[in-house]
Amino acid sequence: MSSTTATWLVTGSSRGLGIEMVIQLLYSPSNVVIATARNPSRATSLIALRAQNKTRLHILQLDVTDQASIQQCASGS
Ligand SMILES: NC(=O)c1ccc[n+]([C@@H]2O[C@H](COP(=O)([O-])OP(=O)(O)OC[C@H]3O[C@@H](n4cnc5c(N)ncnc54)[C@H](OP(=O)(O)O)[C@@H]3O)[C@@H](O)[C@H]2O)c1
Repeated sequence: MSSTTATWLVTGSSRGLGIEMVIQLLYSPSNVVIATARNPSRATSLIALRAQNKTRLHILQLDVTDQASIQQCASGS
C-alpha cells in the first residue's frame, strides 16, 4: 500500500480556528504542516505541538499584511 504526503500551510495558527486546523491535520500521519504566526516565539500552543510532531510540524513567521514577511515565509526561512 502506498501513501502520499501532503504539505499544508496554515496561516494564523497560533490560536482559534488556525491551531484547531493544525491539530486536525496532524492526526493523519501523511500530513506535513507548515504553521505560521506573527510571533512564533509567543505561539506557546504551537511550540508544544511541535515537541510531539518534530518531523511533521514546522513553524514559520508570517504576517499576511507584510510583503517582506510573505516573501521570507515563501522562501522557507
Ligand atoms: N471562531 C469562529 O467560530 C468563527 C466562525 C466563522 C468565522 N470566523 C472567522 O475566522 C477567522 C479566524 O477566527 P478565530 O476564531 O480563529 O480568530 P482568533 O482566535 O482571533 O485567531 C486569529 C488568528 O489570526 C492570526 N492573525 C491575525 N492577524 C494576522 C496577520 N496580519 N497575519 C497573519 N496572521 C494573523 C492570529 O495569529 P497571531 O496573532 O499569532 O499572528 C490568530 O492566530 C476570523 O476572521 C473570524 O472572524 C470565526
